[in-house]
Amino acid sequence: MSICSGLAVTASLPRISFADERRVVEYALEAAATTSPIVGRDYPETAVFSYGNTVPGPELRVSQGDLLRVRVLNSLDQETTVHWHGIRLPNAMDGVPYLTQEPIAPGDSFLYEYSPPDAGTFWYHPHINSSEQTGRGLYGALIVEEPAVSDPGPTKVDFDRELIWLLDDWRLDKTAVIQPFVRGHDSSHGGRVGNVVTINGRLPQPLSARAGERLRIRLINAANARHFALQFEDHSPWIIAIDGQPIEPHTPEDNMVLLAPAMRIDLRLDMVASPGDKSRVVDRFYRDAYLLNEIHYSDEAQTTGSFPETAELPPNPLAEPDLANAERHEILFAGGAMGGMRGALVNGEWTDIRTMARSGVVWAVNGVAAAGRILDPLLTLRRSGSYIFSMRNDTVFPHPIHLHGHHFRVVSRNDHSTRYGEWQDTVLMRPGERVEIAFVADNPGDWMFHCHIPEHMEAGMMAVIRVA
Ligand code: C2O
Ligand code: CU
Repeated sequence: MSICSGLAVTASLPRISFADERRVVEYALEAAATTSPIVGRDYPETAVFSYGNTVPGPELRVSQGDLLRVRVLNSLDQETTVHWHGIRLPNAMDGVPYLTQEPIAPGDSFLYEYSPPDAGTFWYHPHINSSEQTGRGLYGALIVEEPAVSDPGPTKVDFDRELIWLLDDWRLDKTAVIQPFVRGHDSSHGGRVGNVVTINGRLPQPLSARAGERLRIRLINAANARHFALQFEDHSPWIIAIDGQPIEPHTPEDNMVLLAPAMRIDLRLDMVASPGDKSRVVDRFYRDAYLLNEIHYSDEAQTTGSFPETAELPPNPLAEPDLANAERHEILFAGGAMGGMRGALVNGEWTDIRTMARSGVVWAVNGVAAAGRILDPLLTLRRSGSYIFSMRNDTVFPHPIHLHGHHFRVVSRNDHSTRYGEWQDTVLMRPGERVEIAFVADNPGDWMFHCHIPEHMEAGMMAVIRVA
């Protein structure tokens, strides 16, 4: 088996050592302003923010149970933090300004250190001025390998090759300059959707494949607001993990791989076409479908040429919620343009929507619009208790709702049980939809619970869940 990430090899290779029998993997990440040829050599380079001088930032790779240490140096001219999206880590390492740490001031650094309990596909990004910082290119993949990968045995999951596709979009003008980050319309509507889509920070380059190969593709949606519904024409991808958590391998409905912002999906893709063939990967989420990428087959086939059933990925150590005795909470997401919300509590005072809109706050969670930095918990949960959040999207826009520090099972949508009870950390709620999630509150601390579209989060759609 060979692993080839599809990302450029970066200068920031990890330092590996051992402590108490445990592997310690150390990286240094520097956040800085730089330029990047995101739309190719026919245009001037685009001024971006990056980690380690590349967009995306370096791929961080550890094995389940390793101790990961990342020193983050802030060479931006503004404060930052790094959030390790989807990792169930100690609260103090979660990277949320004021809630879990002081922001990292320009010129300062911060040491993040934790041991990821779950194998899977994760990512990292700032959690401050997120619309602009993530939107300008601050993000990267964090891969936690299954023990089976480094320790071949009967449960080994066999892929010929592994790729990462970090999907993003950019709002560029004709000279490849990023357009200003203004709130207003983006905040009250669908968020900042860009006009140029990239894979791994570049215009998509055809995926070269060989007939007979079996690929693992780790899809990560790092875009602020763009959703993807990917169709691999002439192929049928199998979903083997969502948000880093293994799921019973299955082909998705309509063969469409749906990724809301911040979601990850691991695919098993069998290259079943013939040598020399070409096929298309089309994104059909929006009314105007477009060609995202192409698959180009080389002229020779791989010798194996048969595709055995894949074993499921080994499960992660997640606590199973007790659905029968779980405590239930209703959570209502409201506001935005055309949403009909009349007002909400802002800093403890009922405020009508017009007044709210003037200060750029237009969304609310259970009638409270988060403004400023002090966040009282929306709910306080008992440690180790099982909880069901019955959530309703009472707006006309889709929202990917993310809970920090935990993964939850998506148990129902619009009162229909989900087929797979998928574990996720970010769940897409379509307009009007009711979604129930269930989890064990087993990670103590104050955790963000928010829409992952930063323009929505920064305009009120966030809350804190305390696990005491
Ligand atoms: Cu990926 Cu609170 O974020
Ligand atoms: Cu939203």
